[in-house]
Amino acid sequence: MNFMELAKARYSVRKFAPTPVTPEKLNIVLEAARVAPSAKNLQPVHIYVVQSQEEMAKMRELTPCHYGAPMVLIFAKNIQEEWRHPQEDLRSGAEDVAIAVTHAMLAATDVGLGSCWVKFFVPQEVARAYNLPAHIVPVALLPIGYAAADAAPADRHTQRKDLKELVTYL
Ligand SMILES: Cc1cc2nc3c(=O)[nH]c(=O)nc-3n(C[C@H](O)[C@H](O)[C@H](O)COP(=O)(O)O)c2cc1C
Repeated sequence: MNFMELAKARYSVRKFAPTPVTPEKLNIVLEAARVAPSAKNLQPVHIYVVQSQEEMAKMRELTPCHYGAPMVLIFAKNIQEEWRHPQEDLRSGAEDVAIAVTHAMLAATDVGLGSCWVKFFVPQEVARAYNLPAHIVPVALLPIGYAAADAAPADRHTQRKDLKELVTYL
């Protein structure tokens, strides 16, 4: 698959098979997140791998959007490491996490795994459930696994603004 084929093959998987993800495939996904760019290369992203029965049981209480995945990655930002504007109240940790999640989703697709970006959770509840330090803020959850045999993209998956609406040439 070339890049455009990969980008178009990815979709939000909302029904997973229970099959575990091999460590080799997980490592490819994590490596893709690792090489993502970040503001000033400060790398404020931290990833928690949730996969044991016990920790996944907690996760299923924290979000309805686990979709039966065998594993969920918590993408968090370290607020002590994110870039901060010297004068304004601007920080870039959320953007840095977003790029890492995007790399991870595309790498997952590339190795035959499905994923779904999930925002439907309360960061403080996730932090409390997994005893995260106060300077670590969960930004996104990423259920990952093999798509169930009858999983399919949502109807709206292919509905995107066309380039004329999306782009303004100045
Ligand atoms: C920032 C962000 C938050 C999202 N949160 C959720 C979520 O909580 N639950 C969910 O099922 N999908 C979530 N999604 C997935 C989007 O609904 C999905 O990407 C969008 O509908 C386009 O569909 P596609 O991913 O299949 O192309 C989220 C996506 C993004 C980028």
